Amino acid sequence: MTGDPGEKQTETDDGAPAISARQLRRTFKGEIEAVRDIDLTIARGKVFGFLGPNGAGKTTTVRMLCTLLPPTAGSATVAGLDVVRDAAEVRKRIGVALQEIGLDPVQTGRELLQLQCGLYGITGQRGRERTEELLELVGLTDAADRRTKTYSGGMKRRLDLATALVHQPEVLFLDEPTTGLDPASRMRIWDEVRRINAGGATIFLTTQYLEEADQLCDRLAIIDGGLIVAEGTPEALKAEMGHDVVSVSLDGADHAGTEAALRGLAGLERIVAEPDALALYIDNGAVAIAEIVRRLDAEGIRVGAISVARPSLDDVFLRATGRRLEGTGQDPDETEEDQG
Ligand SMILES: Nc1ncnc2c1ncn2[C@@H]1O[C@H](COP(=O)(O)OP(=O)(O)O)[C@@H](O)[C@H]1O
Ligand SMILES: [Mg+2]
Repeated sequence: MTGDPGEKQTETDDGAPAISARQLRRTFKGEIEAVRDIDLTIARGKVFGFLGPNGAGKTTTVRMLCTLLPPTAGSATVAGLDVVRDAAEVRKRIGVALQEIGLDPVQTGRELLQLQCGLYGITGQRGRERTEELLELVGLTDAADRRTKTYSGGMKRRLDLATALVHQPEVLFLDEPTTGLDPASRMRIWDEVRRINAGGATIFLTTQYLEEADQLCDRLAIIDGGLIVAEGTPEALKAEMGHDVVSVSLDGADHAGTEAALRGLAGLERIVAEPDALALYIDNGAVAIAEIVRRLDAEGIRVGAISVARPSLDDVFLRATGRRLEGTGQDPDETEEDQG
């Protein structure tokens, strides 16, 4: 992975997507089907999310796309180059921050970045300038001369992010960049990712967090058991659920009577009773609210607040996989406060 990425131009198709995969598959020991026939097309300049629980096949996919693991079958291109045939060229164009961070604990952040610049042939004054730029980008200028072992979890992730950026990659792979971080550190990483993306890089990131996929990604794929089970923009995926959730807070009103009054509403899919509320899964909740109010009035039923919400990505995940994802990504033991 040496050489000056700026000087050498290989023949690539500039119209090619940032990442494509056709029937990409990886088995281990011939029997563990970690990734099963994945098809992907990711346009340049996007933030693409790969959302799935532990063991879904996220890291295996990333390793294949980054040329670190040969596929068992199928093919993939990154920046228009084949990940097997043109592996060396692919590596010059990508940056990778894997789940396991291997920082030398006695090095300072600045030393580590300078070393990484050197690996890419960015030396002397240019290396020093690039190092300062990157420290600035990830907000580590003030901590640059501290040994990395004194960094918080969030600071380590940010430094790792910076090392993946020294050669200005076209495509950046981030494998669970925020797992185990507290919410503030997580949002800080999101800011960095957005900034890097605004600079032109395509970003492929894996996550177990619904909110991360929702907030950060232009498009996402839900992966479960090595298969992509849903794909689209967060908005489209939620819209495909086809209904809103109208919540009627009962404030002591009778469950059964209220439910009876609301049965048969246009577009109503089902009513779920909660402790002091009814959740109505219904098409176009905003329009339905008027009819709900009319019916309850007509029956003389007094309720509390009525609110309408769009379905969440968790509802999408539930429908695609039969399980809820929420909560599985949290590992409280790993959570570290960000002191930076
Ligand atoms: N080197 C390996 N040898 C055997 N099995 C593996 C190896 N790497 C991953 N797996 C298995 O492949 C599946 C997918 O793993 P992985 O891609 O790491 O999932 P994720 O990153 O989504 O948690 C899991 O069942 C995992 O145990
Ligand atoms: Mg993983």
